[in-house]
Amino acid sequence: MHASAFFVLLGSGLVLYLPSLSEWVSRRPLVKDVHFYTGIAWAAALVLIVALGDWRGLRSTLRDLDLFDGDDRRWLLGRPAPQGRFNAGQKLNFWLTAAFAVLFFVTGLLLWYGERDTRFRLPSTILVHDALMYVSVVLVLGHLFLALVFPRTRPALRGMVLGAVSEQWAREHHAKWVEAVAEQSDERLRPRTTIL
Ligand code: HEM
Ligand code: HEM
Repeated sequence: MHASAFFVLLGSGLVLYLPSLSEWVSRRPLVKDVHFYTGIAWAAALVLIVALGDWRGLRSTLRDLDLFDGDDRRWLLGRPAPQGRFNAGQKLNFWLTAAFAVLFFVTGLLLWYGERDTRFRLPSTILVHDALMYVSVVLVLGHLFLALVFPRTRPALRGMVLGAVSEQWAREHHAKWVEAVAEQSDERLRPRTTIL
């Protein structure tokens, strides 16, 4: 849902932005409507997923993304350091993506309202919206290279599509996550009553 909405927004946004594409497509009001209502549907779907989704799963994912420790700092400096369920790069990617989604939405709403009420027409809104597009394109291209092309990281796609990765992959790339899962299952297996 997130990826397809993003690419529709990027494609329709580029048609609005690049004169050569605008001339070629020529139906600007229609493209503008597709862009705006896809943005609204994207934001509504994200809110619905949070509101109606698996709260326990979302909370535990948020905990995994929230904590930056010494290992993450070492990893970002290029030193070897064991990583949890998300490595430090993935954590940064998540927080940037979340912040950008909010900023895209707020600036997009201001652009839309600005056409209807000049009090909302601020000179820098379009600059911020365009700058977010440039940075997002770089981030998403890097993300797609790691997810689809780079042999060392490509196996993660299995986790995204099927919901599971091999234990060997997890041990190599997310050693602290494997330890935490093993500890949890040890605790579950430990007998709760003792015989005196
Ligand atoms: C999240 C919800 C979003 C909303 C509500 C939204 C809304 C808008 C609106 C109302 C415009 C102005 C159209 C015009 O007057 O010509 C616009 C332009 C644009 N948007 Fe979005 N947008 C959103 C997300 C995105 C995303 C994710 C991207 C790209 C990754 C994007 C890229 C663009 C571009 C390139 C333009 C053209 C700006 C220009 O002409 O300089 N937008 N958007
Ligand atoms: C078809 C396109 C895409 C593919 C194949 C893809 C693939 C993946 C994969 C394989 C992961 C899991 C990585 C792991 O757990 O090791 C992931 C996570 C993620 N993706 Fe995508 N993705 C796509 C589009 C996007 C787009 C458009 C965005 C944002 C604009 C995005 C944002 C994220 C974020 C924030 C995460 C979690 C943090 C991270 O792993 O970096 N993805 N994606």
